[in-house]
Amino acid sequence: VDRLECRFCNKDYPYDPFSPFCPDCREPLLVPSPVPPRAFHPAESLALTRFREFLPLAAIDPALSLGEGSTPLLPLDRLADRLGLPALFAKNETLNPTQSFKDRGTAVAIQNARRLGFRRIGTVSTGNMAASTAAYGARAGLETVVLLKEGTPEENILMAGIHRPRLLVVEGDYGRLFYESLALGRRHRILFMNSIDPFRIEGYKLTGFEIFLQLGRRVPDLLLAPLSSGGHLIGLLKSFLELKGLGFADRLPVVVGVQAEGCAPLARAFAAGAPRIKIFENPETIAHAISNPNPPAGTLVLKMMKDAGGLIAAVSDAEMLEAQGFLAQEGLFCQPDSATTLAALIKLSRERSFARDATAVLVVTGSGLKNLKALDSLRLPRARLTLSGLAGALAAGGTDA
Ligand SMILES: Cc1ncc(COP(=O)(O)O)c(C=O)c1O
Ligand SMILES: [Zn+2]
Repeated sequence: VDRLECRFCNKDYPYDPFSPFCPDCREPLLVPSPVPPRAFHPAESLALTRFREFLPLAAIDPALSLGEGSTPLLPLDRLADRLGLPALFAKNETLNPTQSFKDRGTAVAIQNARRLGFRRIGTVSTGNMAASTAAYGARAGLETVVLLKEGTPEENILMAGIHRPRLLVVEGDYGRLFYESLALGRRHRILFMNSIDPFRIEGYKLTGFEIFLQLGRRVPDLLLAPLSSGGHLIGLLKSFLELKGLGFADRLPVVVGVQAEGCAPLARAFAAGAPRIKIFENPETIAHAISNPNPPAGTLVLKMMKDAGGLIAAVSDAEMLEAQGFLAQEGLFCQPDSATTLAALIKLSRERSFARDATAVLVVTGSGLKNLKALDSLRLPRARLTLSGLAGALAAGGTDA
């Protein structure tokens, strides 16, 4: 792919890896949708090759993959019954190589870096993308530059650092850092594969394709995903738009992007019916991974969500922690950022009723190990006793708290 398209100007432009923005309106450019005929290759073991006909790559080097994707779609029947929710599934993206969905995007972006002959790659990250890019950079034997926001949880810094990238914690405006990185990338020939890199977004489509196949070639009624910069949501929307465009599906899911109330520029703009976001001043939430006060694809997300009949919701820190606990009761440990999806579905189910046979899928984007500090407030109970007291304690049954 050498040309990218602008969804506002309805034109395509040459692909510039250092500025994937429309030269006319400055909005982010996307890879054009594939044209028919296209087929899945279900027998392939790598997700990248299974869906290769839907990716903008002429060749795929399997040596650059860490085995991302192909994650389970876990039914949550008991939880759905208990909370009065529609048939519920979790797409468990915590099982990716660096324990978040970011690997799907990095896996495609690194193929693009190889194709273009880059020796150095980089990213600007609040955490999960840092670990992912550092791991794939190491795998490919490329020098990797990771620019981190101040205040990134220590777990994320360590998970990136172990792969020995150049790890730079940068003070100052995170919004500006995004554009600055691309400009420096041009000067020093570093491919910055940031949150809305068009090839990264292509990787996120595979989540949607997998869900479609795992549901028996059906589109879920609701698809909920946490929303920050918007790259992930654009990828998910794109997958179902392409399935529909290519004739595999006859409708779209209602896609629900979920933000933290403490940093909700997109939810605010959406509620106000505004076509653009306003920078969210003084963000404050435990959900660091989805806390982008000035998402550079804001206008594009608002347009695509409006066109597709999607929704943008926001939930409080208390609501996401409660939902994190509900998912843990089903055996799933995700970061609070990812539990926003369940919290939003619980809220939605109070406001509207669903068809009896409705299906909802939560994209559980990242592991709970990514942010252990968020668990401090729970004061998880543990009892201390001597060996001789153990028999008596177990005879008494299970209330050690
Ligand atoms: C765990 C988790 N979920 C969701 C998101 C949101 O993705 P995006 O920034 O593409 O909207 C992020 C982004 O970093 C994340 O780390
Ligand atoms: Zn444009």
